[in-house]
Amino acid sequence: MDFIASALSHLTCSRCDTRHEPDEIHRFCACGGPLYPRYDLDSVSWTPESLANRPGGLWRYADLLPVRAPEHRICLGEGGTPLLRLARIGNHIGLNELLAKDEGLNPTGSFKARGLCLAASRARELGITTLSIPTAGNAGSAMAAYCARGGMRAVIYVPRETPPEFLTEYRDLGAQVTIVDGTISDAGARMASEARDDWFPVSTLQEPYRLEGKKTMGLELAEQLAWQLPDVILYPTGGGTGLLGMWKAFDELEAIGMLDSRRPRMIAVQAEGCAPIVKAFEAGDSSAAPWENATTVANGLRVPKAFADREILSVIRASKGTAITIDDDAMLAMLRLLAGVEGIYTAPEAAATIVAAQRLVADGTIHADERVVTFLTGNAYKYLSSL
Ligand SMILES: Cc1ncc(COP(=O)(O)O)c(C=O)c1O
Repeated sequence: MDFIASALSHLTCSRCDTRHEPDEIHRFCACGGPLYPRYDLDSVSWTPESLANRPGGLWRYADLLPVRAPEHRICLGEGGTPLLRLARIGNHIGLNELLAKDEGLNPTGSFKARGLCLAASRARELGITTLSIPTAGNAGSAMAAYCARGGMRAVIYVPRETPPEFLTEYRDLGAQVTIVDGTISDAGARMASEARDDWFPVSTLQEPYRLEGKKTMGLELAEQLAWQLPDVILYPTGGGTGLLGMWKAFDELEAIGMLDSRRPRMIAVQAEGCAPIVKAFEAGDSSAAPWENATTVANGLRVPKAFADREILSVIRASKGTAITIDDDAMLAMLRLLAGVEGIYTAPEAAATIVAAQRLVADGTIHADERVVTFLTGNAYKYLSSL
């Protein structure tokens, strides 16, 4: 297989549209908006046949990814996760076609591998040697692994309530770890107050490239469904990178002629104990206020304030989707049901999406004959002490 060159051309601010140079180090725009990588899409020509000859995994889409040099494309076998039909659970909740993208099979056990793979690879390409992150759990694991693999240093700030399995993993992956009282927002504030000049923060959407890794979930889904997107996508939403990344993927695929203009309804699923996006969506607001006293067993959803709240709300609305909260007991019951009848041991965040599907079928928002895809964003193994 020949080398696949990146078609990265520039970055633009998602809020004020200012253009930024692609090969300089950026965090976010001066206006406070996230930066989106843009590509010379005219130079990208895909066909189902040409893609079939490419290697598996996330780097098969390298022309729509931002890393230029192959030696900086750090690889741990990320991406290429299966799209599994959940026949029994689908039948149980009243859906004829319920599909699950099992992201728990990624390196370090979650979809966070995709985003951190891209952030670490691009950072290394731009000469950065230390990455720092506030994390609810899975993102820290992924960052530490990609830093180790890429010969970089990892600095992690993590809430005290994070299951201890994550802390053991961070230590063994060689990260420097600080435990913080409070939520991921408190961890982020502490990280900012202790930041050193050589640390590069990769907080959600505060650098441009994690988004591109998450985008590959959308590219992969489209390819696995033979370029026919589903009717509905359910996504457990904390910082919301996956939701935004998939939406960006669909736009880029349309621009290169692989998709038409039809889009799935995007459904953001949050925990009852931390639901800033749901609250703002229901109120008709364009941004979300920070959630007070956030609490849930689904630590990935304990995000009181998403940096890209405006973008998340606008995608949900543009897709004619919705946002819904699920309580912890229902998540855990579904986690066990899914494990017992389908053999998939998924994280509470992910189990929440299936409860959401069940409730939205029951209230008529989703119809029995619609094709529904849920993202099982992580596996349960690092949550065992909280289950
Ligand atoms: C398993 C799992 N699902 C979902 C999320 C939320 O993802 P995002 O922050 O991209 O919305 C997280 C974040 O930590 C997570 O670990």
